[in-house]
Amino acid sequence: VAPLLALTGFMGSGKSAVGAAVAQGLGWRFMDLDQEVERALGMDIADYFASEGEGPFRAKESEILEGLLNSVRGQGHIVALGGGTLEKSENLRRVKRAGRVVLLHVSAEEAWARVVGSARPLAQDEAVFGDLWRRRLATYEGAADWIVPTVGRQVDEIASEVMELVEYCGSALQSFWVRSLAKTSRSSSIVGGPDALQFLGAKAQQARGSGSRLHVLTDANVMKAWGERALTVLGDLDGDGVCVLPAGEKSKSASVLERCWDWLAGRKALREDVVVALGGGVVGDLAGLVAATYHRGMGLWQVPTSLLAQVDSSVGGKTAINLSVGKNLVGAFYPGDLVVIDPDTLATLPEREYLGALGEVVKHALLDSEEAFDLLERQVDGIRGRDAAVMSDLLKRNVWFKASVVEEDERESGRRAMLNLGHTTAHALESTMGYGHMNHGQAVALGLLVALSASERVLGLDRAVRERTEALLGAFGLETSVALPAVSLILAAAGRDKKVKSGTIGFVGLRSLGHPEWGLDE
Ligand SMILES: NC(=O)c1ccc[n+]([C@@H]2O[C@H](COP(=O)([O-])OP(=O)(O)OC[C@H]3O[C@@H](n4cnc5c(N)ncnc54)[C@H](O)[C@@H]3O)[C@@H](O)[C@H]2O)c1
Repeated sequence: VAPLLALTGFMGSGKSAVGAAVAQGLGWRFMDLDQEVERALGMDIADYFASEGEGPFRAKESEILEGLLNSVRGQGHIVALGGGTLEKSENLRRVKRAGRVVLLHVSAEEAWARVVGSARPLAQDEAVFGDLWRRRLATYEGAADWIVPTVGRQVDEIASEVMELVEYCGSALQSFWVRSLAKTSRSSSIVGGPDALQFLGAKAQQARGSGSRLHVLTDANVMKAWGERALTVLGDLDGDGVCVLPAGEKSKSASVLERCWDWLAGRKALREDVVVALGGGVVGDLAGLVAATYHRGMGLWQVPTSLLAQVDSSVGGKTAINLSVGKNLVGAFYPGDLVVIDPDTLATLPEREYLGALGEVVKHALLDSEEAFDLLERQVDGIRGRDAAVMSDLLKRNVWFKASVVEEDERESGRRAMLNLGHTTAHALESTMGYGHMNHGQAVALGLLVALSASERVLGLDRAVRERTEALLGAFGLETSVALPAVSLILAAAGRDKKVKSGTIGFVGLRSLGHPEWGLDE
């Protein structure tokens, strides 16, 4: 089958310019849907719109799109779609069948600045334009297999990124999804999908070719389950290229951090080398801090292998170790240059770890949207059974969501605070019941129910949301009720938690599905 990338995005996102540049660079055929439609109509889209209206235009557009997709054979193809093409479900189905959908992401403000004053029929009024942008973004993100940011970037830079991705994906182009981040302190590509470890292999080869060495940090459990496969794809690591740490939270300590620095020093690691974090959130947080600090910052690839790390901790760049007085007190913001999320690695994750992370998955869906929550409810069996296709899609949606929050507010001065939904109570429960007594994910699940209950009183949240959440958490095998310690102890612990966070976060609540509020003081 000929490889095909369909570029989607709002007007002004650069679909035609980027599409032409990528096609030229790769020697692929370029097709511009708007131009083909204009050719068929014999007039400008704006004029046709004005005389016939949107309905007949969309009918013509679908007909031409079908013809273009049917003509695909031989070499690779790039199609620049129209801004509204994917709003029609039959177009979406056809495009998804033919290849990968690449969203060129642009903010509403930037898109307006790029098209204001043009003849585009849907770009005549800024408020109408903004509403259309919001509606279409949901369609684009739902359809996208790759999301590539465009704000503040030149066409050449975006085209090079797409070309590189095509090269590294190789024959697995049709199965990987990609979210790249360009606005964070370090740019980052998050690549996922079945057997995504293959992608890691291609990157390792390229890194070695340009003189960088790889240094792998992992823990004993992950080494046993995935070490051989990972080392095979990474290729020759020379000498003691893998540092295997004891599994568990205790490895997030200053003494283990120092041990890792010494190991890198012993290997004569250089700044252009790459630390590869292969493991769950513990390895990711620690190795991220190692990479952020050694030589004042080396390359970092995150290869998360636990569900929690895949849906949450590997995305967003928070790295940390613990001190005896509290968790995650020393760290840095340091997004991985590359994050590779292979759902196949979840097969060996112990059930307790797997289920615990589902608390965070439910949290994301509550914060994201009504649709995300509905979908989660429909996919309970596939998720519990770790079905490969269901999991790849679930991981993708969680990455889309977390990445969009982090992209807007990397350092948690605003929107990112919403991710603490349920966490004040969870921390209080964990500390009053004794750390390690209750699994963190389980504590988050209970914390969510408390946050939703409070939201009913403070924000008028419909009670059905809590009832549905309770049913969902229960269906995932998580406890939804617990014998609580004295309320005064919990409140005292919650107060301590807030002080640790300098009182900036406050309480996070939900007004309705997908509409959180943060910074609330009880
Ligand atoms: N940086 C962030 O934004 C962020 C967000 C949330 C949590 N965290 C941190 O993440 C940590 C928790 O992460 P976690 O739940 O992944 O814990 P973890 O790293 O300890 O992994 C859980 C257990 O599963 C094992 N494991 C991992 N992958 C496996 C696999 N594929 N097969 C078999 N065993 C496997 C590990 O060895 C460990 O025993 C905490 O330290 C928390 O503070 C960080």
